[in-house]
Amino acid sequence: MFLEKGAIMEKIIIANLKMNLTFDEIKKYKNEIEKYEMRNFILAPSTLYLSYLKSDKYELCSQNGYYVDSGAFTGETSFKQLKDIVNYSLIGHSERRNNFNESYEIVSKKIDSCIENKIIPILCVGENEIEKEENLQYDKVSKEIVSALKNKNVDKIIIAYEPIWAMGTGNIPKYEDIENMCNYIKNIVKKYTKNYKIIYGGSVNNKNIIDICKVDGIDGVLIGGASNDPKNIIDMYNTVKKYVK
Ligand code: PGA
Repeated sequence: MFLEKGAIMEKIIIANLKMNLTFDEIKKYKNEIEKYEMRNFILAPSTLYLSYLKSDKYELCSQNGYYVDSGAFTGETSFKQLKDIVNYSLIGHSERRNNFNESYEIVSKKIDSCIENKIIPILCVGENEIEKEENLQYDKVSKEIVSALKNKNVDKIIIAYEPIWAMGTGNIPKYEDIENMCNYIKNIVKKYTKNYKIIYGGSVNNKNIIDICKVDGIDGVLIGGASNDPKNIIDMYNTVKKYVK
């Protein structure tokens, strides 16, 4: 599904379910979305549900993974174990960086392990409220990308620009700010690979998804809260397919 050069651009829609939904709710979720052929739709559920959700109608993404292949790491799931089930993994999501102390070094090791196991990393980057007020968003994003990718043989990668202040708040940046950040990211990431996509995440919903997907350079969206309801995600998916070319 990673589009080849010259292919008609289609937006990527990623649903990050975070630590939500019970098994009963996941069963209903699967039933709903399997009614559609969801091309370019990537689902990131809790690790617990990944095997159950395997399907040829959409793709799977892990929300996390561990960079050591195997061993005495109780509670962890390695990228080596995940690789038969997922094609993608979120790496460096701000909730992991902030709540689980994931350092730049750990993020870099996770990227290495994804590359080794042929999992496409979705590297999450973005500034917090204070960094935004101090106009440090470009410095922050640059540091997050360079520290994760330097000296690596990156094949394919997705960079998710997720301003932390926008996540779960209902606030989103101005569209021109997203476009400027997108251009900035492009100029950094292209030094590491030609095969990249740039997406936006942070309070994406049914009302703003079209305008965000129309921002120049944006290849898709990463949706958190608004993806918990399968009807909602199907609605957003169909709207984008219909209105954004
Ligand atoms: P949100 O989360 O859509 O709820 O703001 C986005 C994310 O965590 O990726």
